[in-house]
Amino acid sequence: MSASAANNVPTDVRAALKHAMARLRAAQVPSATLAAELLLMHTLGRDRAWLYTHPEASLDAVAAEKFFSLVARRAAGEPTQYLTGKQEFWGLEFQVTPAVLIPRPETEHVVEVALERLGARGIKIDMSTGGPTPPLRIADVGTGSGCLAVALAHELPHSEVFATDISSAALEIARRNAARHGVADRIHFVQANLLGGLLCSPLDTRHSPLAFDLIVSNPPYVARDEASTLAREVREHEPDAALFGGPTGIELYARLIEQSGALLGARGIFVVELGYNLAGAVREIVSRDPHWSNITITNDLAGIPRVLAAERA
Ligand SMILES: C[S@@+](CC[C@H](N)C(=O)[O-])C[C@H]1O[C@@H](n2cnc3c(N)ncnc32)[C@H](O)[C@@H]1O
Repeated sequence: MSASAANNVPTDVRAALKHAMARLRAAQVPSATLAAELLLMHTLGRDRAWLYTHPEASLDAVAAEKFFSLVARRAAGEPTQYLTGKQEFWGLEFQVTPAVLIPRPETEHVVEVALERLGARGIKIDMSTGGPTPPLRIADVGTGSGCLAVALAHELPHSEVFATDISSAALEIARRNAARHGVADRIHFVQANLLGGLLCSPLDTRHSPLAFDLIVSNPPYVARDEASTLAREVREHEPDAALFGGPTGIELYARLIEQSGALLGARGIFVVELGYNLAGAVREIVSRDPHWSNITITNDLAGIPRVLAAERA
């Protein structure tokens, strides 16, 4: 809605929300109520509780103009998170821009499985620092917003993380998210094709050879010819490099699994997110190499096989 249209509509919080919800519903925006609330919270710099305890609060012309311009962009298909510039993941708020994939709730299973596997493996504790000895070394391949790298660095204060991405614009956002959550000093950001930059890395001066305890990844896994099946928000606004894994979607997994095998130390753990319908094919690739053991697949909350984990012999 334009500024002029805003003249004869909503001048208070309740009316603005009602109007925005109707507009978004008419445009068949999923979760229209939530989207309207988030956009108004963002516009006013208020939380949801404030919106519902101040329904009569008035919207000045500037706020109304800003809010209805965001509502119009949402109705035209832009994801709410790119309009507000943020998304929560693992209880932490991440900055997101169209340079990065919006972190998905199902990707939190990668963190869960990784922490479970590390816990089950057991770690040696340095009695003076209380941390593992030597510190855990982790890689996150295709870091995007940095959600996996930052969540793991946050959970594991004695870890050192290498986060790679092919996109320099994505790495810039990931760096900002690491700084925001106070873990930038423990994450190395590397522009690389998968783990290519780390296989013969000049980054590591303290440990040789470069051997990881944990490698995680949520690689691009949508098949090119499935682009039309994606929601418009995703297809038209999220970066192609974050979505498409090649003609069948499986293409990047084989290289990632091979490189991970070369970089993980003894009992090193590999945890990867699986595209819809790809569990069988990815398990097959891992099973071909006898040095992988303890292969498990974890379903997401919708019952879809979502995360494969394996351990290096
Ligand atoms: C599905 S997104 C995942 C982003 C983030 N880890 C998450 O879970 O939200 C995949 C990421 O991998 C990056 N990427 C794509 N191809 C790559 C490659 N060959 N090497 C490294 N990164 C790549 C993309 O730029 C994108 O940021």
